[in-house]
Amino acid sequence: MSPRTIVVIGATGSQGGAVVKELLANRDLYHVRALTRDPSKPASQRLAALGAEVRSADLNSGSDALAQVFAGAGGIFALTDFWQTQSTTTEIAQGRAIADAAARTETLKHFVWSALPDPVKLSNGQLLNIHHWKGKSLVTEYIQKEHPELWAKTTTVLFPNYFENCITTPDRYLPKKDASGVYTLSFPHSPETVMPNVAIADTGKLVHSILQAGSTYFTKTIAFYSEALSESEKLASIGTQYNVPTKYQKLSSSECQELLESRDGMSPEIALDFAEQLMMFELFGNVYANPEFVQAREIPGLSLQTWSEFIRENDLRRFL
Ligand SMILES: NC(=O)c1ccc[n+]([C@@H]2O[C@H](COP(=O)([O-])OP(=O)(O)OC[C@H]3O[C@@H](n4cnc5c(N)ncnc54)[C@H](OP(=O)(O)O)[C@@H]3O)[C@@H](O)[C@H]2O)c1
Repeated sequence: MSPRTIVVIGATGSQGGAVVKELLANRDLYHVRALTRDPSKPASQRLAALGAEVRSADLNSGSDALAQVFAGAGGIFALTDFWQTQSTTTEIAQGRAIADAAARTETLKHFVWSALPDPVKLSNGQLLNIHHWKGKSLVTEYIQKEHPELWAKTTTVLFPNYFENCITTPDRYLPKKDASGVYTLSFPHSPETVMPNVAIADTGKLVHSILQAGSTYFTKTIAFYSEALSESEKLASIGTQYNVPTKYQKLSSSECQELLESRDGMSPEIALDFAEQLMMFELFGNVYANPEFVQAREIPGLSLQTWSEFIRENDLRRFL
C-alpha cells in the first residue's frame, strides 16, 4: 500500500511539529504535508529537509483555499492557535473553515481535531470566561452538527498543560529565586490540586496511534495526558532533581490575574480567561478524568513521558 498523505496544520509549532516528526519516522505509512504561513522560514525549511512536503496555507484564508491544500489527504491533524490572535471570533472562524474544507475532501479517511473541553458544561455554568477553551468546543459542536459525515471519522483530542511550558514560558511555570535563595512558585491552586500534564513532544506518538487504530476512535474524545500532577508536586521534584530549596505559594484567583497582567503582559480579559482556566481544576478537580473521555494513558502500546523523566532529560537549571 502506498503511504497515506497526512496534512498537518501548525507543523512548525509544538503540537504539529511533534506530529510531523513522528509521521516522518514512518515513511512507509505516511507522506507528510506540512502547512505553514511561511514556507521560507527556517523552521519550515527544516521540515522540508526532513522530507515533508511543505505547503503555504493561512487559516484565515477561508475554506476554498484550505480545500486546495487538503486535496488528496487521507488524514488531517488540525488545530487553531488562539494565542496568535487572542480572538475567539477568529479562532471559531478558522476552525469552521478547516471543518468545511475537510468535509469537502473526498479522499479523507480520518480527521484528528486538537481541542479543549466545554468549560461552561464542565463547570455547570460557573466559569464563563475561558474563551480559549469555549471557542474550540464550539468548533467541535459545529463539526458534529453541521458535518455529520466528517464527524463520523473525527477523533477529538483534548490537550492538557504541556511540560514544555516551563521551557517556552519559564517566568510563569518555573519558580523564582528570592533574596533568601528559596525558589518560589505561585499558582492559584491548593497544594493538592492536580492538572492533567503531558510532554507535548509525545503528540506525534498519540496521533500515530490514533491513525493506526482505524475506526476505533472515530467520534471519540481522547483526554491526552500522562499524569495528573499538582504544581506543588512538580516544584518539589524540581527541588529534589536540582538540589534547591523550594516553596509553593497559593494565590487567590484575583492575585493570579493581577500577576498575569503585570508579569506576563496579558490584557485584563485574557488574564481572566487564563486564571479561570486554572481555577477549573481547583474548583472541579481533574475534569479530564471524566468517564466520557477515552484516557490516552489507556491506549494500548502508547507510552507517554512522565514529569520525572522530563526533568531528567531536559536541564531546567538554565532557567532557574
Ligand atoms: N500551551 C499549553 O499548555 C496548551 C494546552 C492545551 C491547548 N493549547 C492550545 O494549543 C494551541 C497552539 O498549539 P501549539 O502549542 O502547537 O502552538 P505553537 O507552538 O505556538 O505553534 C502555533 C502553530 O500554529 C500555526 N499558525 C498560527 N496561526 C496560523 C494561521 N493563521 N494559519 C496557519 N497556521 C497558523 C503556526 O504556523 P506558522 O507560524 O508556521 O504559520 C504554528 O505552527 C492553542 O490554541 C492553545 O490554546 C495549549
